[in-house]
Amino acid sequence: MKLGRLNHIGVATPSIADSITHYRDVMGATSISTPFDLPEQGVKVCFVDTPTDTGLNGTQIELIEPFDDASPINGFLAKNPAGGQHHVCFEVPDIAAARAEFEGMGKRILGPTRIGAHGTPIFFLHPKDMQGMLTEIMETPIDH
Ligand code: CO
Repeated sequence: MKLGRLNHIGVATPSIADSITHYRDVMGATSISTPFDLPEQGVKVCFVDTPTDTGLNGTQIELIEPFDDASPINGFLAKNPAGGQHHVCFEVPDIAAARAEFEGMGKRILGPTRIGAHGTPIFFLHPKDMQGMLTEIMETPIDH
């Protein structure tokens, strides 16, 4: 495995609009994307950028709100009505190689490799095999 940078922390929220207000007014975030629907993943998504010394490629907060009653994050929000940390996402240089390595280590992978909210291939690893954290693996975006 070749660990890349922490791309984002996934934060489930019952209201992206309320979370945007929080990150802007309480946390002082100045770079927040326009929310968009990702119906095939069952979520609405919004990215909050954190700054870096270079001004580029800061770790993001990925706000996710249920898209509908079948959303995979409905269960999480039922247990955590105020929302909270849902997953962490690390970049890797080669998604297929990373998947094969995790499989070789006996880690449970949740579903197929698919295109995630950033337009790059991703997959998720079972939290029980990952120190209690639902872990997303993302191929490093080409423009980074
Ligand atoms: Co994510």
